[in-house]
Amino acid sequence: MKWLPLAVALITPAQAALRFGCSTVSIQRLDPIVEPGRTPSSHLHQIVGGNAFNATMAGDIGEEGTCTTCTFTEDFSNYWTAVMFFKHTNGSYKRVPIMQNTALPNGINGGMTVYYTQQDFNSNGNQKITAFKPGFRMTVGSPTTNTLDGAKGHPGLRFVCLSDKGTRFPELPDFPTKKCKAGIMTVHHFPSCWDGKNLDSPDHQSHMANTAKEAFTPAGPCPASHPVRMPQVAYETLWDTTQFDSMWPKDGSNPFVLSYGDNKGYGTHADYLFGWKGDSLQRAMDSSCMFQACENGKPLKSQSVAAMNKCAAKQAVKENIDGWLDRLPGM
Ligand SMILES: *[C@@H]1O[C@H](CO)[C@@H](O)[C@H](O)[C@H]1NC(C)=O
Ligand SMILES: *[C@@H]1O[C@H](CO)[C@@H](O)[C@H](O)[C@H]1NC(C)=O
Repeated sequence: MKWLPLAVALITPAQAALRFGCSTVSIQRLDPIVEPGRTPSSHLHQIVGGNAFNATMAGDIGEEGTCTTCTFTEDFSNYWTAVMFFKHTNGSYKRVPIMQNTALPNGINGGMTVYYTQQDFNSNGNQKITAFKPGFRMTVGSPTTNTLDGAKGHPGLRFVCLSDKGTRFPELPDFPTKKCKAGIMTVHHFPSCWDGKNLDSPDHQSHMANTAKEAFTPAGPCPASHPVRMPQVAYETLWDTTQFDSMWPKDGSNPFVLSYGDNKGYGTHADYLFGWKGDSLQRAMDSSCMFQACENGKPLKSQSVAAMNKCAAKQAVKENIDGWLDRLPGM
């Protein structure tokens, strides 16, 4: 991705975007949105954010928990995706380690990069951007998507074969089919238009409408059915696939699989549970700060990488997720 030259940034009065790192808060089989109360849930997730994460999450998440793994200390939201595994030709699985992204302070433990952009990467388009309300949640994508056309229909859900950690193109609708020199990045863009009424919906998606296009290109206008423009939330997760280079199958087939048993990647999906304290996210959206410039109380309170890494959620599901496994957890 190309960063905006400073001179251009300064003449754009309506800029404001958050980009920040969150270290891993937990890797376990829980899913308080899709399978609330179920311990364990069907497949393994990596979760970042507030440490109140649990099988059931209700009420104002910003008021629950005691710490967050994210840079901004008022952000107790939880962000999660499926986890990537390597499948050996002998049938065993091993979890692919998660690496930190570029352009973040050093030392973040795994985790992901989270974005809250506005109209597009650089501007709010002079629109009012309305922060999510306490209790708000949504998902994007579905583990049941099992065709390439289905995957192409979700332009915000992509894979990038990394030559280095800064590679951003091309974006693929499915797993790369060759070894990637610096790993694989998964990208999840959420819809940003709200119906203005529902904090959730039975499918966790229909209260939102998607205008997201690939790679932070300008979001289209919100439809009349979903007129309220919310922040454009996106995740980037970097997977260190390189340590499996010597074990690739001889027939060249992709050896990576997402934790719900998907070796194509068509069903890539992500979950978002809003948990910013008070009006902190609205204050950030109303300000004109960009990225790191939003830290240190301008306008958001922030913390050190060491403090982020220290925060963890309780492990409610105790099972072996590392080492060589004879099956994917829960599968
Ligand atoms: C998670 O939920 C269980 C069951 O409701 C509860 O016993 C436990 O205390 C919760 N853990 C946290 C960290 O809130
Ligand atoms: C598969 O290969 C890995 C790596 O050599 C090994 O650690 C694991 O035990 C093997 N699994 C089986 C079932 O042989």
